[in-house]
Parts: sequence; C-alpha cells; structure tokens
Amino acid sequence: MEKTFLMVKPDGVQRELIGEIVSRFEKKGFHLVGAKLMSVSKELAEQHYGEHKERPFFGELVDFITSSPVFAMVWQGENVIATARQMMGSTNPKDAAPGTVRGDFGVTVGKNIIHGSDSPESAEREIGLFFKEEELVEYTKLINNWIY
Ligand code: TYD
Ligand code: MG
Repeated sequence: MEKTFLMVKPDGVQRELIGEIVSRFEKKGFHLVGAKLMSVSKELAEQHYGEHKERPFFGELVDFITSSPVFAMVWQGENVIATARQMMGSTNPKDAAPGTVRGDFGVTVGKNIIHGSDSPESAEREIGLFFKEEELVEYTKLINNWIY
C-alpha cells in the first residue's frame, strides 16, 4: 500500500495545528503508520531539501525548518501521495484553495505549515531520511472496510 511522508513544519507546531492537521488525514481515511516530534539538524534539512540547493530561498528554508521542532509523519493509503498534496494545497498559500491546509492556515510561502512528498520516489527517499524501519508500524484498520 502506498505511503507518503508528511511533516507539520515549525510554524504549524508553534501554532498548535498538529491535532487539526492529523485529524484531517485521519478523517479522510488514511492510516498513520509513523509519527514523531523532532528537531531537524542542518544536515538533515539540507538533504531533505537537496533539490532546492541552488534556489535563492534555500538558506532561509533550511534556517526555518531547523528553527523549532517539526512533527514528522508517515501516512498510508490508496493514492495517498497525490491526495495528500491536494489536501495540503498549493505551495504558496496565497494560491491555495480554501479547504486545504495551506489555504486555511497559511499566508506566505516561507511559512506554509506543511510538507508532503511530491512523488513515489521522493516519498521513499524522505521516509528513509526521517524514519528507521522499526519506527513504522503495520496494522489493519477495520473501519476502512466501510470507507474504501
Ligand atoms: P517546493 O518543493 O517547490 O514546494 P512544496 O513544499 O509545495 O513541495 O518548495 C519547498 C519549500 O520551499 C516550500 O514549501 C516553501 C519554500 N519555498 C519558498 O520559500 N519560496 C519559494 O519561492 C518556493 C518555490 C518555495
Ligand atoms: Mg517539494
């Protein structure tokens, strides 16, 4: 079953939005299979955002993500990578639709509340960066017999 890496960024944790965000993905019908509140080291931040190394915002992005704890999560479910991206909304909250996490809670691109993997390749890479295999669980949620 497909898995994705989602992370409540420092602004979301500071604003006490962890519960709200977890709740949205739970209610949608996805399974939480790993989660932890953690500090991100500069090394991990630079690896995680490696694709943006040459971009002008890279330094600020690394400073931001290492500035305060994040809530790292792995979610599982059918088509969860793409569906979670839709539920997050556009990268810039000014373009994010109401009803999405960024559309409902964010204002500027530098503080856009949530990260989510954008492809199967990045999901696998990011889960591997943030979680050890033994930190993820496998379980069957019987309630999903009624959802899909
Ligand atoms: P990106 O991977 O393009 O967006 P997403 O998080 O939706 O996958 O960019 C990574 C993060 O970098 C983004 O969440 C916020 C930050 N960022 C900026 O600060 N300025 C920018 O112009 C862009 C494109 C991103
Ligand atoms: Mg991205």
